[in-house]
Parts: sequence; C-alpha cells; structure tokens
Amino acid sequence: MSVADVQKEKSHDLGEEQSIWFKLTPLLKGSNPMQVVMHMCEKYGGVIPINLKDQKLWFMSDVEHFRRVLVTNADNYTKYFDGIRPIFGDSMITVDGNLWQNIRTPQQPAFHPKAFDNYFPFLVEAINAKCDRFSELAKSGETVEMVEETWTLAADMVCRALFDRKMPFNPHFVFKAVKTYTDVSSHKSIRLGRQSGELKDVSEVDPAKAVDTWLSVPEMVLGEDPLTTREHTLMAMLMKAKDDENIPDFDEKQVIDELKQYLWAGTETTALTLAWTFYIASQHEDVREKILAEAEEVYGGREPTIEDIQKLTYTKNVAQETLRMFPPIWALIRVAQEDDVIEGHEIKAGDKMVMCTYAAHHSSKYWNNPEEFDPDRFSPDRMKRRVKYSYLPFGAGKRSCIGGQFSFLEICLALPTLLKRFQPEYIGDPIQLNATVTLTPKGGLPFRITERKS
Ligand code: HEM
Repeated sequence: MSVADVQKEKSHDLGEEQSIWFKLTPLLKGSNPMQVVMHMCEKYGGVIPINLKDQKLWFMSDVEHFRRVLVTNADNYTKYFDGIRPIFGDSMITVDGNLWQNIRTPQQPAFHPKAFDNYFPFLVEAINAKCDRFSELAKSGETVEMVEETWTLAADMVCRALFDRKMPFNPHFVFKAVKTYTDVSSHKSIRLGRQSGELKDVSEVDPAKAVDTWLSVPEMVLGEDPLTTREHTLMAMLMKAKDDENIPDFDEKQVIDELKQYLWAGTETTALTLAWTFYIASQHEDVREKILAEAEEVYGGREPTIEDIQKLTYTKNVAQETLRMFPPIWALIRVAQEDDVIEGHEIKAGDKMVMCTYAAHHSSKYWNNPEEFDPDRFSPDRMKRRVKYSYLPFGAGKRSCIGGQFSFLEICLALPTLLKRFQPEYIGDPIQLNATVTLTPKGGLPFRITERKS
C-alpha cells in the first residue's frame, strides 16, 4: 500500500465514537466551559473520578498528581490521541517507548537554541510578509480574524525556518480545514443530529474533506524546492534520519507524519498565543506601551538581531502570562498501562487521566489573583516562589514540548515588530472560550487594524 493510500485509509477514523474528546463534550459545551471546570475542581477536589459507560476518567487539577503521571511514574502513562489521529498520524507526539525515543532523538538538535541563528532571517522574512498583509488589511479597513492571521504567520515561519521551503499551500484554506476537523464538539453534534434526523444539512463529509485537505499538505511541502542549501534545518534532519539504516523506524511515512505534526503542533499553539497577546495588548494600553518601550530601548530604529530579541524580558513575560491565562493545550491526557494509586484512589490499567493544566493555571491555591493579567509573575524573584508544576503550558517531564523555546523566539520577534507598525483593535464581544483539542476563542478574535504613523 502506498503512503498516500495509508493516509487516506486513516482519514476514515473520523471522530472515533469512544474518544473521550467526545465524551467530555456535554461538560464543555456551554458558554463558559472553563468556569464549569473551575467550579467542578473547587467542589469535588483535585482528583475527580468520572465513570462513563465503558471507561473511567480521572479529572485532575492538583499539581502533585501531575507530577506523578507526567514525571515520577511517567512510564506507566502513555499518550492518548483517539479521535484526532488523522491530524498527527503516528508522529513523535503520539507514540511511546523506544519508538518515541528513536523518533525524537534525531530531531532534537533542530530545537536547540544554537540552531536558532540559522532560522532567524527566515522568521524575519515571514513577519515582513505578514506586515505587508496587515498593511493591505489596514488600507481596506476590513475585519481581520486574528487567529487565522497568526495561524498563517506561524505556518509560514515553520515552513521557511524549519522546513527551508516557501509555504506551498494556501494557508487560509488549510486553516479552515484544520478548524473544521478539530472542532471535536461539532463532530459529536453532527453525529447526534444525524442519528436523530434533526440535522439535515450537515454531514461528516465536511470533516472528512477537511482531513483530505490536511493529508495533501505534507506532499506539497516535500514537492517544493528548498530555499537554500542550509544543512542544519529540521527538514535536513528528517531526511538524514530517513536515510539512516540504523533507524529503521524512520521511513518515508514517518517523515510525512512528522511534517503533519509540526504543521499542527507548531502552528496552532503559537498562533493562539500570538493572537491572545494581540488581544491583551489591545485591552491593556500599558502592556502595549511597555512592549514598544522595551523594543525601543534594546534596538531602537534598527533591525533587531537574535541577541536583541533574547533581551526582551518584558515581552517574553507577556507571552508567558498569556500562556498561563489562555493555555492552548488546556488539558494533557494519558492512559494508565498498569494499576496505580493516586491520593488513595485506585487507578486501573486503561483508565484515562485528564490533567487540566488550565485549572492549575487559574487556581488561587497556586497564584495570587489568578484572573488578573500580571506579566511580572514571571520576574526571577517571583518565579522562585512558584509552586512546581503549577505552570505547564508546554507539559512536563520527558514528553514536554520540543518547540517551546523556538515559539518564544517567534513571539518575541513578531509581537513588537507588528505592534510597532500597527494598532490592532479588538472589535468582538466579551470573550467566551471553546474547549476542544485546544482552548480557542469562541467565534474567533475579530480585529480592526490601523497603520500607525511613524
Ligand atoms: C506556544 C506554543 C506551544 C505550546 C503552548 C505547546 C504546547 C505543547 C504541549 C503542552 C506539549 C505536550 C503534550 C503532552 O504532554 O501531551 C507539546 C508537545 C510537543 N510540541 Fe509543542 N507547543 C508549542 C509550540 C510548539 C512548536 C513551535 C513546535 C515545533 C515547531 C512544537 C512541537 C511539539 C512536539 C513535536 C511535541 C511532542 C514532543 C514529544 O512528545 O516528544 N510545539 N507542545
């Protein structure tokens, strides 16, 4: 069977009925799902058993238990991706054990800060292209969907810097396809509606078509000519791993799955964070001014270097605080392989552990005034006092995010550059959240952009 056929076949695992993403839908469906989650944690505590017909979930918000599952007994808890596998294939983020190690090791150097010099000019190029687009949007005065704009920027940055390719697909089209698929709660309502005969005009064809679009993207990237002859890109490392006979697991299909994974895990997350930082900057004039003042002090009117960007501590604190308040990955899920005991609760093999990092990020047990936006929480002094594992936007333990530092570089470069030239104004309703695979603003983040006079 060809790689394309295998991909196609997988696209039909649409919305696996047993996926707990669907099972959680009733809980998360309301207008403020995170408020429901916070009330639930307050009322029932840090470990809540949830019995479903044929499976058991443990909904956790206590950091001690995060530590047990993610770090001290991590080998007993494997990854869980039922229901969203078509997005990731069998890539590093989904697999476990030796296979995971064999896949991650050859890619690790691409995310070492030493590699970032090599990426920097390509990040600048992508941001300049976004400035051109913002300039057009400012002239036309049309409403801008910020998450879509930052998604297309993040995808462009990943393609140019890490894959050494121009983005060969229409990112707005692919963005919409990804949204159609990952709105897991809609899959459920689509299915229920169809079963009860209520919904006549929606079918699973839309998510299925969206997956087909998604599956065509890696081939397009591979078919595009490299931009340069750089040897230390992520793409070069993927190709080297594929040709290395000592890593038999790393075949052509693996390369394709890794590309898919990066185009989701490396774009959706950074894009949401950037979009939320624009929202914060538009609501807190002082935050916007401090970001601009810091950039002015560090590099003034000249083009920034990578060293300049690394000095933008306030801007980085804004990004970190944004990730606390709006963690794109609001829960981490694992499956117990063997029985375990957590705070006297008997965990059985097969139980699903839902670690709600959002709840820890917003708990007054761990943070003063958790609903207040305060980037100074990330000052070195206050960081020393932070409770361990209470801040996990990138996960924890050996399975934590490979791209965290890279994403701070992207955000700290993009945010001051775009805010210096443009004034984004949020024109939407009060924020409501949507808790699907990621935590997203319900209905998006509509903005109007104006170009600032220099
Ligand atoms: C603000 C941006 C980002 C956030 C919030 C984020 C969040 C996360 C989280 C929470 C995990 C762990 C999931 C778990 O334990 O189940 C993870 C894993 C991962 N992330 Fe990120 N991520 C970000 C940016 C990136 C970027 C820029 C890349 C690559 C270009 C990336 C690639 C990955 C990969 C490959 C993994 C799997 C690592 C493994 O299992 O070994 N992420 N990310």
